Amino acid sequence: MLSHADNERLTRVGPGTPMGNLFRRYWLPALLAEELPERDGAPVRVRLLGEDLVAFRDSDGAVGLISAYCPHRRAPMFFGRNEECGLRCVYHGWKFDRNGACVDMPSEPPDSLFKTKVTIDAYPTWEGGGLIWAYLGPPELRPEPPGHELVRTTPEHRYVSKSLEDCNFLQALEGGIDPTHATIMHNGNIGDRTFLNDYDKLVAELNLDRTDYGFTYTGVRPRGTHTWVRGYHWIMPSFHMRARAEGNFGRKKDHDEIPTIDGHIWIPIDDEQTWVYNFGYSHDPAQPLSREQAHVIETRLGRGDYLDANYVSRLNRTNDYGIDRRRQKTQSMTGIEGINTQDFALQEGMGAIVDRSKEHLGTTDRAIITLRQILLESLDTLERGGGLRAIDPATYRNVRSIDRMVDNTLDWRLATKEDFVAKF
Ligand code: FES
Ligand SMILES: [Fe+2]
Repeated sequence: MLSHADNERLTRVGPGTPMGNLFRRYWLPALLAEELPERDGAPVRVRLLGEDLVAFRDSDGAVGLISAYCPHRRAPMFFGRNEECGLRCVYHGWKFDRNGACVDMPSEPPDSLFKTKVTIDAYPTWEGGGLIWAYLGPPELRPEPPGHELVRTTPEHRYVSKSLEDCNFLQALEGGIDPTHATIMHNGNIGDRTFLNDYDKLVAELNLDRTDYGFTYTGVRPRGTHTWVRGYHWIMPSFHMRARAEGNFGRKKDHDEIPTIDGHIWIPIDDEQTWVYNFGYSHDPAQPLSREQAHVIETRLGRGDYLDANYVSRLNRTNDYGIDRRRQKTQSMTGIEGINTQDFALQEGMGAIVDRSKEHLGTTDRAIITLRQILLESLDTLERGGGLRAIDPATYRNVRSIDRMVDNTLDWRLATKEDFVAKF
């Protein structure tokens, strides 16, 4: 449980809030690269950390991210004309480049210097991993571009998507790093229900190591002659990287599946809505994904037919996420189709911002407790002007997650050491 004050501190992300200030020290995904497919194409609305913005790909192919409102009389820049390296407000024709400079002001006399005095708020962007990243913090503290292994993969190796989650980012992030719920809530093969009586099968030996980018969490479960080792990373502020091996370990094998690294990035739209970025990529640089393999990842990570053109799930609270009570009795724990949809049902159902002063955390909540401790420590560090985890990409550039069976005759830590190192 958490005090009301700490809960507020951890969940509010608007300008000037503690957590808002923390997020503003990192590069964050602002949208998918596929949303701005062409130069001088249609601008896209972006809401990020409670700020209303507009993104556009200019004639050079670079992406501008500027205020949603024109500094003249606050007209919406979304309706602007994207032309010749700038976005022109269609109300009175003022035009701004991707850095926010006013480059044309046809409504003022030609000799006027007014346009040199007016700018529109603009944030730097960087493209990588199929994502357009933005930095909303103090310019003098801008870190190096993101260094996650994902950004070094090629489009042929990876899959990225996003989906709208209708609640605060922290309960979504906490759901992602909570390993125990996966074996219970996401169980799609409950059969005779005996799995609920097998503590060893459900709960792993937990190894949680704090790192200078966040933490590494390794679950170790006995499986006869072998040990099932699953290790993931949380990289500050909200990047989760895990792995998925071939369909063994008691899971149903998806057709043509190859081992992948996958995960999510939770990005606050504002206090009560979140973009969940989903990614997955081949574990091997020599092995690009076939279209079928990409499709397996795509449907597993929640796109498939589930999302509409605005990246909103068709199964949502208005239709109780499509819950099928008959299937819930006989087949799956939730009766809800799709891993992401199951997560959304539970996390959105907690309310827009979960009241953590009413929780009762148990032994398997260690990752969540550590996550909150590190975030609260980071807020203190930020206020004291100290250094933050994962600002320097060198701290996490070479990490990757694993999912492997290790023979019991081996020391799993030694046997898996190399698997934890990035290959791209
Ligand atoms: S409001 Fe944009 S040019 Fe006037
Ligand atoms: Fe989940």
